[in-house]
Amino acid sequence: MLISPDDQLSFEKSRPGRRGASLPADRCAKDKLFEKIPDHFKRRRPLLFPELSEPEIVRHFVNLSRKNFSIDTHFYPLGSCTMKYNPKVNEWAAGLDAFANLHPLQLEKTTQGILKVMWDLEGYLREITGMDRFTLQPAAGAHGELTGMMLVRAYHDALGQTKRKKVLVPDSSHGTNPASAALLGFHVIELKSNARGRVDLETLEKHLDDETACLMLTNPNTLGLFEEEIMQITKRVHEKGALLYYDGANLNALMGIARPGDMGFDIVHLNLHKTFSTPHGGGGPGSGPVGVRAKLVPYLPVPLVTQQGQNYKLDFDNKKTIGRVKSFYGNTGMLLRAYVYIRSLGREGLFKASEDAILNANYLKEKLKVAYKVAVDEPCMHEFVLSLKSAGVHAGDVGKRLLDYGFHAPTVHFPLVVEEALMIEPTESESKETLDLFVKAMIEIAKEIIEEPDKVRMAPHTMPIRRPDEVMAARRPILSYRDQLRERILLAEGAPT
Ligand SMILES: Cc1ncc(COP(=O)(O)O)c(C=O)c1O
Repeated sequence: MLISPDDQLSFEKSRPGRRGASLPADRCAKDKLFEKIPDHFKRRRPLLFPELSEPEIVRHFVNLSRKNFSIDTHFYPLGSCTMKYNPKVNEWAAGLDAFANLHPLQLEKTTQGILKVMWDLEGYLREITGMDRFTLQPAAGAHGELTGMMLVRAYHDALGQTKRKKVLVPDSSHGTNPASAALLGFHVIELKSNARGRVDLETLEKHLDDETACLMLTNPNTLGLFEEEIMQITKRVHEKGALLYYDGANLNALMGIARPGDMGFDIVHLNLHKTFSTPHGGGGPGSGPVGVRAKLVPYLPVPLVTQQGQNYKLDFDNKKTIGRVKSFYGNTGMLLRAYVYIRSLGREGLFKASEDAILNANYLKEKLKVAYKVAVDEPCMHEFVLSLKSAGVHAGDVGKRLLDYGFHAPTVHFPLVVEEALMIEPTESESKETLDLFVKAMIEIAKEIIEEPDKVRMAPHTMPIRRPDEVMAARRPILSYRDQLRERILLAEGAPT
């Protein structure tokens, strides 16, 4: 008898009594282990977990993982996210017993290894960006922005400049920039870009005044373009007594080429989980260190790692600190991975990574512009944006159709300044052969849009699911087994467990 796909795919696999492990029942009984557990710790009814044998569990999870797209399985040109390959040596280092089994409350003399890693990493980040000091605490890019905005506020408050309440944010900046400023109570002013997708100096000038606290700039911006008038921008902002914040999440385009510190920026955040190859996606964990120039160092969160002779210590004595922004010292596993990445590539390797990221993006842009409109058709940095102008087929449909061709979708409908945007970031990890296959698929899809638009509109056709509610899937994912759900309901009803 043939087994129907429904039977094979059926989610319910639990059978009463099946086990993946067995405890020595006779010993448990002999030692009267159960009786030794105090009554109030005892379960009053069995756990409502699925009952399965070990191979069934292994198969279940391996099969689930094979339904996924990941950087280890597919090309992942998700613009703005820098989904570069995560070298396995980073994982090896982060998994070493001496690091993985550390406890954050251990005495300093027993944690010298990780403190040295943090101190050295900070040194590398200082050198790469041209900043004076870093906090490694923030757990994401947006968290770095929030920390940066807290520093802006603390700095102006300390100078008695309390009326500086405006934060200027170009419309080509990352969406988290205005959100972070607004969270701190700043009044966000959006600056409209010029026709070439860059900051318009006249518009900037118009909004700059003695109420301006800061300009927040994403560079390269979300169109993948470098702000060519950057020195003019920083000069004018400083002349008005405001600070300059650099969203350096896109530093993958700049390593060894240009430094925010040299451009005159006061604060910068980096996304280690993009530029420095620590894995991300699915919401974390990440790491968004924040670097500052000397005048802002006294406000940095504590503790800072410092070196004293041969030793490293946690310094809680930063005079005007804004306090902690994360429990303990940040996501040290991510810091370790970034440290290994930087050490294994070295100065030349980091420069080459940026150079190749830019080369790959420009190669794809030139190949794709025969079939798609480029939002700003100029040499780009590490990414570029296409604008899909086609009645009835949307950028999101192209993203879905790409899944059928074996590619993760680019970022779609972002940046908001481009209609029907497809934002493509190949990263430096990809070979010319992979890029050529992607071009082939994209050109094929462009043909389908004209000849069989429904095929694109209804895509994907080969995936286990087609079009989930993406917002709800991210905001309220249902990841637990249904019986756990039942247990939660019982708990909510006051049933004892
Ligand atoms: C330019 C830019 N800024 C900020 C962020 C926010 O970083 P995170 O998602 O880690 O909060 C991102 C995310 O990719 C980004 O691309």
